[in-house]
Amino acid sequence: MKTTVICFTNNKGGSGKSTVCANLGYELASAGKRVLLVDGDMQMNLTLSYFSEEETISMAQSGKTLYEAVCDRADLTDFIVRSKYEHLDLVPSSSLMSQLEFKLFTMMQREFVLADCLSGIKAQETYDYILIDSPPTLGNWVINILAASDYSIMPVEASPWGLFGLANMFDFLDSVSGFCPVSLLGVVITKVDERKKYYRQTSDVLSQYSDIPVFKTVIHVDSAVEWAEDNSLPVSAFRKSARSADEFRHLAKEIIKYNKEVTHGSRKKQYGKGIKENGNGRKGS
Ligand SMILES: Nc1ncnc2c1ncn2[C@@H]1O[C@H](COP(=O)(O)OP(=O)(O)OP(=O)(O)O)[C@@H](O)[C@H]1O
Ligand SMILES: [Mg+2]
Repeated sequence: MKTTVICFTNNKGGSGKSTVCANLGYELASAGKRVLLVDGDMQMNLTLSYFSEEETISMAQSGKTLYEAVCDRADLTDFIVRSKYEHLDLVPSSSLMSQLEFKLFTMMQREFVLADCLSGIKAQETYDYILIDSPPTLGNWVINILAASDYSIMPVEASPWGLFGLANMFDFLDSVSGFCPVSLLGVVITKVDERKKYYRQTSDVLSQYSDIPVFKTVIHVDSAVEWAEDNSLPVSAFRKSARSADEFRHLAKEIIKYNKEVTHGSRKKQYGKGIKENGNGRKGS
């Protein structure tokens, strides 16, 4: 099977990017898919989802993280660590990633450095899915992440400010999709709390726009997510019966089904035209 690269992007901090990325990785691997997780954020949250703080810090200091790979435009194969789960590997991050914007500035073809680092692994088709976690920023590094990806999944939090700034994210995605194949796989609504009105509000706004694909599965607020993260475990491994574990499983199924049905890059390239014009996903400028 051809490798599908999916990144998790939203410039809104705390929208659930790392949580969805980590748990989707586990569910895809549990479904027999070969998965590589790539931690693209200096906060190291994806790495911490699978390794203890001590292990994460030790890997960050090993000189074998995504940071060094990108600085040397090196093949990521040599930077892969195995998780304790079958079919699930990871390229760890480090806090040095905070310097990446500056490093990229002087590099040739600076939008495609990560794509180059991944090209060998993709060519070998060692993995069915490569999942890349992004920081909550819109800069050259996130352009690199999008340019290395076939698809982007956008987690949006069901909260008063969850949609604010989404139009900027769509603009950014449009500008990148002009020179690389990335397209929006879908918005996934996260941290849904039935006791509050924000889920309805968020899904009603999104459903007004036919050019924004939204996953059927939503992820509810679930304390098991935090407990699992505190123990460096995916939710399913922490508590298989947790509601969110079930939801991450369903989300993985939606993605596998979609990937079977379509050929790469067949999603539309322009998104959120209406939401950008209407002002629901308000722009900052
Ligand atoms: N479904 C959920 N139920 C409860 N807590 C959640 C859920 N999803 C995420 N969280 C919590 O919300 C916080 C933010 O989630 P997460 O780190 O995944 O967001 P993020 O978009 O990656 O953030 P950042 O933009 O800083 O990278 C975390 O503390 C996480 O534990
Ligand atoms: Mg994160």
